[in-house]
Amino acid sequence: MTKKITFQSTNHGKLPIDHNGFYGQFGGCFVPERLKPNLIELEEAFYNALADHTFISQYIRLLKEYSGRPTPLYRAENLSRLYGTNIYLKREDLNHTGAHKINNAIGMALLAKRMGKKRIIAETGAGQHGVATATVCALTGLDCTVYMGATDVERQRSNVERMTMLGAEVVSVISGNGTLQDAVEAAMTEWMNRKDDTFYMIGSAVGPHPFPEIVARFQSVISKEICDQIYPLTGKQAPDYVIACVGDESNASGAFYHYLDNQNVKLIAVEAAGQVIESGKHALSICTGKETILHGARTLSITDSQGNVTEPYSISAGLDYPGVGPLIAYLASEKRIQCLWATDNEAVEAAFLLARTEGIIPAMESSHALAALSKMNFMSDDIVRCLSIGTWGQRSGYFSLLQPQTRHHYCQIKFFD
Ligand SMILES: Cc1ncc(COP(=O)(O)O)c(C=O)c1O
Repeated sequence: MTKKITFQSTNHGKLPIDHNGFYGQFGGCFVPERLKPNLIELEEAFYNALADHTFISQYIRLLKEYSGRPTPLYRAENLSRLYGTNIYLKREDLNHTGAHKINNAIGMALLAKRMGKKRIIAETGAGQHGVATATVCALTGLDCTVYMGATDVERQRSNVERMTMLGAEVVSVISGNGTLQDAVEAAMTEWMNRKDDTFYMIGSAVGPHPFPEIVARFQSVISKEICDQIYPLTGKQAPDYVIACVGDESNASGAFYHYLDNQNVKLIAVEAAGQVIESGKHALSICTGKETILHGARTLSITDSQGNVTEPYSISAGLDYPGVGPLIAYLASEKRIQCLWATDNEAVEAAFLLARTEGIIPAMESSHALAALSKMNFMSDDIVRCLSIGTWGQRSGYFSLLQPQTRHHYCQIKFFD
């Protein structure tokens, strides 16, 4: 007789999630049976940790003392003047390691230690999650292997250097386009093969339940802080708009989290349109995507006419992913979020505009959210909370940085083979 496996999902916070990990028709857990016990173990450990005051205190202490939170909510005066409204930037770039990814990595490292795991694996696109993972592993004494698509290893080489210096092994994945999708598949396959001692520190709100929920909850510190910061700065209880770029959705789900049930706050998700106009190449999973199973969850992904997931394209490694997390897919289907897009060229223009008006160089991912500012009609008294800025890596020839030699391991892996 087989034991029926059920997820507990007892503590949902603000997320509209059911007992099987579904947000409406999106999400769930579409993995081989042998992986399910691990996901159940992870879910139980996560909810127990959330209920444990010591765990939460440790998490908050590290966010504060190690990462430097709360990050400022900065009024971008020059940009506000340019767009005739009130633009505030949530400065996630001022976190330790330069992006929001550390919020999740700290929480997950504490969870892994609590579960007695000794080894961490992670995937990375832009390298920001890889650097955050390598950083917390160094801090907590965990072994660390990061899977990164070969294309991303080249275009984000400075982050490969950082991971290596922090003691992580970087595995360059040469399957597919050598981008984030391929890195996720490689990491998931490795987790299937070594699930007993290994913790999969996923960097985005994608994958089978409970990963999307864990990531969204650890990233929700972003909107929690905005809630605390906005009134003293503006005299308003909430912003009129929250705008975030959407790759796999971790910064977006974190920035939207505390506003999900406040209909007065318009939530704007900006996707990467790549070179859609020139050559049809893009990463528009919400705007053009179809319902598919991707990396263990039902979500929206870009597909061909047969419904097969196709290779995405974006100048930005962090947005170069064929799908979106299930929470954002659900919010889009419910029309709770509005979806806009920005092309490579628009994102680059927006990056230069921010650099030259505010003296802040944004990540190429965040630049997509900035590009959306020119596509909207704001009122002069609107409060616009725009994105999580992150640090600019080495991107596609726009910047030419030094490229010291690194050693990589090469592998070719298929997902759930
Ligand atoms: C600064 C920054 N923003 C956004 C993203 C996209 O990822 P996500 O949608 O999970 O936030 C990345 C990915 O590396 C990033 O580095």
